[in-house]
Amino acid sequence: MYSEKVLDHFENPRNMGEIENASGMGTVGNAKCGDIMRMYLDIDDEGVIRDVKFKTFGCGAAIATSSMATELVKGKTVQEALKVTNKAVMEALDGLPPVKVHCSLLAEEAIHAALWDYAQKNGIVIEGLEKPKEDIND
Ligand code: FES
Repeated sequence: MYSEKVLDHFENPRNMGEIENASGMGTVGNAKCGDIMRMYLDIDDEGVIRDVKFKTFGCGAAIATSSMATELVKGKTVQEALKVTNKAVMEALDGLPPVKVHCSLLAEEAIHAALWDYAQKNGIVIEGLEKPKEDIND
């Protein structure tokens, strides 16, 4: 039911942890399943994501999608990271069962929430980025 890539990222998650004094941090949750995902971004002066870490309190698919999402945004510019949608994360993982699509959405939302936090802290506007529906940072 799960692809090998999903199982690999679940068993050996990449970039798990946290970044102290992160440029941006976003925490999102899914009210239905109760799972929570937090992303930390370290962004340099050129707007390039130098480092990224995640913490996920959630299901295996949420952990695998967080892990893959961090790999996809690392080294990218803020604008490029915006294009890392849940669909892109799912494709990179060779798919997810339909009941697990919402888990990948959490990854997209967590990246957006962290980018939003970065933009707020720096007083900048990131074109195409909308305010997160819900930010449970605090
Ligand atoms: Fe909710 Fe996976 S079951 S994030």
